[in-house]
Amino acid sequence: MSSPTSNTVSIFAPLKLGPLTLKNRVGVAAMTRNRSVPTTVPNSINVEHYRQRAAGGAGLIITEAILIERQGTEWQHAPGIWSKEHVEGWKKVTQAVHAEGGLIYGQLWHTGRVSHPDAPEQIKAGKPVYAPSAIRARGGKFRFIEGVPGYATPTAIEDPATFIPIWKQAAVNAKEAGFDGVQVHGSNGYLVHQFLDSSSNQRTDQWGGSIQNRARFGLEVLKALIDVWGAERVAIKLSPGNGYNDMGMPLEETLETYSYFITEADKLRLAFIELVRYTEFGDPVIDGTRRGTPHDVIGSYAPLIKRSAKFGNAGYSSEEAAQAVARGELDGVFFGMLSISNPDLARRFEHGKEVNTNLDMVNLYGNGESLEELEKGYNDYPIAVY
Ligand code: PHB
Repeated sequence: MSSPTSNTVSIFAPLKLGPLTLKNRVGVAAMTRNRSVPTTVPNSINVEHYRQRAAGGAGLIITEAILIERQGTEWQHAPGIWSKEHVEGWKKVTQAVHAEGGLIYGQLWHTGRVSHPDAPEQIKAGKPVYAPSAIRARGGKFRFIEGVPGYATPTAIEDPATFIPIWKQAAVNAKEAGFDGVQVHGSNGYLVHQFLDSSSNQRTDQWGGSIQNRARFGLEVLKALIDVWGAERVAIKLSPGNGYNDMGMPLEETLETYSYFITEADKLRLAFIELVRYTEFGDPVIDGTRRGTPHDVIGSYAPLIKRSAKFGNAGYSSEEAAQAVARGELDGVFFGMLSISNPDLARRFEHGKEVNTNLDMVNLYGNGESLEELEKGYNDYPIAVY
């Protein structure tokens, strides 16, 4: 890759994020891998997965999305953080990452309306599928049910304030598990996003309607996490253009909503705000159409971020990422798919090694129930020779 000129910032330069110093600005993005068998508790192959990526030189690793409670478990083997057992499982992950000199944030997740009443963990939770409003998402493909059974109409949350302590407890648990910080999953059509978007939030109380009201839930979640961690170890991920999970508002409303939310989130002096660019991957076709709102996500919102660090995500090449950091548009970039197929992505970039783009799509979300089967397409990607 081209080397940055002397008075610009290199993507390989360290970055101070609150009390942490990242060794570079190449991050591992959160990626759902659905491998916490027997169910929801991080296991030895999860430990190895994150250890490999810390050894591979990433400046910061974000975990796959971690469920804050059993209700809303869309996939049966996505990990959680609501119990002591989860905390002990995650401790092994954070210890392995730290032993390799890495840093790791836990991404906290509630899926809201895109769970299914027949999902095994949802049944165990003994609660309905909750959402801001009783509005069903179109689509609905579940990795454990054949075909496209569709989403069910969710139950509107009576008082959203009662959900904030659930986020707070997850943040307490994440701290006990030894993470370096926590990121709110505010993107891709999950609960925080469902509150922000006027198509999934049609509440008439203080949690819906105006932009300020729709932003309230995400901002209250951030404040609860800040109470536990301090703002300098709290982040949020947002995908203003993505139609994933049947989201989307007209362009002007999208710009107004996210400009407000990002400005308010930035005032909290977060560690960083991660902006996901529009991609067709993040805006799948549902019932024959894409719902997303293609626009220049980085250009529209990164300039509003003044007190927090700003990270980009989605579809970056090493060159494009280096240029965005060099010209000060971003402080760093997260890589998703490339971090799956290259455990040593940051090292490869730095040493000018070829990047492996050969992704094992068959085993992306895991096949089988044994740890051995689940390591395929997970922990068996090649590491370059240095
Ligand atoms: C997924 O499980 O498909 C998934 C989870 C979290 C995301 C995106 C996709 O942010």
